[in-house]
Amino acid sequence: MLKTLMSQIKEYKRASILTPVFMILEVVVDTLMPLVMASLIDGGVEVGNIGHIIRMGLIMACLAGAGLATGVLGGKYGALASTGFARNLRIAMYTNIQTFSFSNIDKFSTAGLITRLTTDVTNLQNAYQMLLRMCTRAPMNLICAMSMAFFINARIASIYLAAVIFLAVFLSFMMRRATKYFREVFKKYDDLNASVQENVSAIRVVKAYVREDYETSKFQKACNNLYLLFVRAEKLVVLNMPVMNFTVYACILGISWVGAKMIVGGSLTTGELMSLLTYCMNILMSLMMLSMIFVMMTMSMASGERVSEVINEKADLSDPENPVMEIPDGSILFDHVSFRYKASTGEPVLKDINLSIRSGETIGILGGTGSAKTSLVNLISRLYDVSEGSVKVGGIDVREYHMETLRNQVAVVLQKNVLFSGTVLENLRWGNKDATLEECREACRLAQADEFIEKMPDGYDTYIEQGGTNVSGGQKQRLCIARALLKKPKILILDDSTSAVDTATDARIRKGFARFIPETTKLIIAQRISSIQNCDRIIVMDNGRVDGFGTHEELLASNQIYREVYESQTQGGGDFDESKLERR
Ligand SMILES: Nc1ncnc2c1ncn2[C@@H]1O[C@H](COP(=O)(O)OP(=O)(O)O)[C@@H](O)[C@H]1O
Ligand SMILES: [Mg+2]
Repeated sequence: MLKTLMSQIKEYKRASILTPVFMILEVVVDTLMPLVMASLIDGGVEVGNIGHIIRMGLIMACLAGAGLATGVLGGKYGALASTGFARNLRIAMYTNIQTFSFSNIDKFSTAGLITRLTTDVTNLQNAYQMLLRMCTRAPMNLICAMSMAFFINARIASIYLAAVIFLAVFLSFMMRRATKYFREVFKKYDDLNASVQENVSAIRVVKAYVREDYETSKFQKACNNLYLLFVRAEKLVVLNMPVMNFTVYACILGISWVGAKMIVGGSLTTGELMSLLTYCMNILMSLMMLSMIFVMMTMSMASGERVSEVINEKADLSDPENPVMEIPDGSILFDHVSFRYKASTGEPVLKDINLSIRSGETIGILGGTGSAKTSLVNLISRLYDVSEGSVKVGGIDVREYHMETLRNQVAVVLQKNVLFSGTVLENLRWGNKDATLEECREACRLAQADEFIEKMPDGYDTYIEQGGTNVSGGQKQRLCIARALLKKPKILILDDSTSAVDTATDARIRKGFARFIPETTKLIIAQRISSIQNCDRIIVMDNGRVDGFGTHEELLASNQIYREVYESQTQGGGDFDESKLERR
């Protein structure tokens, strides 16, 4: 983990080294200051030597200036290094997330990724800054001040030693307890983010089902859990201050007591007593710093692990050594294919699938929800890799293709599709960034989207809100189809992509496909028989197996599932009038 994080410091190495250097210089200045002050009092004020006072005063002014300068520079470089570190971490995570395959994405929750990109990185950034500035400063300060104190007067300095030991015991006890709580805090952050993300992105559904109260109480619970944990951890941490103060005052009291006696006895000067008191503060402050660093470190350990997990996650699909860059044709072959999702155990989702589809065929796929229709087609564009067997496109195993080539030639209109914020035209050009306006129009005509786009206030320049909230479900689906068509793919897969489109429009879309892209192999997943009955052949999926594969008439005659679905849809009213329309 440390190695992963360290590698992100990159161009900020110089700043990372300069910060502790300036910090050490600052400590040196801080340590010298009380010494000069002691001399000023003893050699100047006590004996009334003005010249000495002025000299020492000047030295003190210079030291103060130097202290200020080193402090500012240390702070500046510390900020530079830590914010740069955070920037690099975020970029590294984000870049790696882009390479994730679907199964990598399955592993992390969206909420988890968001927490990692925001809160966790911020923690690391703060911890790193702390580390650079304080980790050298505090121990250095402790050692310098302590040795100076011993140098001035060993008997009084032993009072510090007692205080330091007392504090060290107290702090280590407290930290051990607090760390436990801080670790848990991050898990709760994930829950909180999950709640926010789920609710906010699905706010319309929440409203439609009048679940606001339920969602609010869920969120309150997540907030409350976090609150309770923080209170528990902070309860321990706040003890820090009073205990510190108590120790400081006890020390001052002890030093004054012993010191006063010594001054009277003549074995200590007033100046020395003054500087001893200053060192006392220095020592105890650095102890407190150390304890804070300790808290930060334990907090950020958890974050560090979570961040490096994302950076180190290897995309489990990659291009082969010498990838095939050209897809010969749109034929598809499933050869004894079995597939299971990594996360799930037990039965495979797809079992021993054998299918041969010719280039240019139109294939319908029918089956109940959960019968693995989506899983089946996802293997064709290699969104997942098969567990056993092989999937061939154009006679070549999909694992041998350059992935970009494959995905450009196999266009999938996903079941859960999204539009991005931007104009209609920008969204369409996701399919092909060089598409001309005329080509976009053509694709939209095919997808029956031109009509409603032209009715929109700004036509093709109409702005689509994030998630496509300002277009209807059916309009969104048609835009997604048009976007896929712009790829001019060899294989076009529509995963239930016309479910929200009325049946007449649906039929027109399919007619358009048959006329304008006859060479493209088309796979159409649908719930309505009317959407697929005119396909060349139809696959009937049942519980991860191919239950039947043939034309409408063949399946009606031989396949029980198909016949039952057909009868329920035609006799129950449903879409049966559609078949008349189709025959026109
Ligand atoms: N990303 C996933 N991780 C684990 N299991 C999944 C995933 N996607 C789908 N499944 C499971 O695979 C099975 C088939 O799902 P799917 O192919 O989406 O069916 P369909 O598209 O026919 O409704 C279901 O039992 C579902 O729970
Ligand atoms: Mg599906």
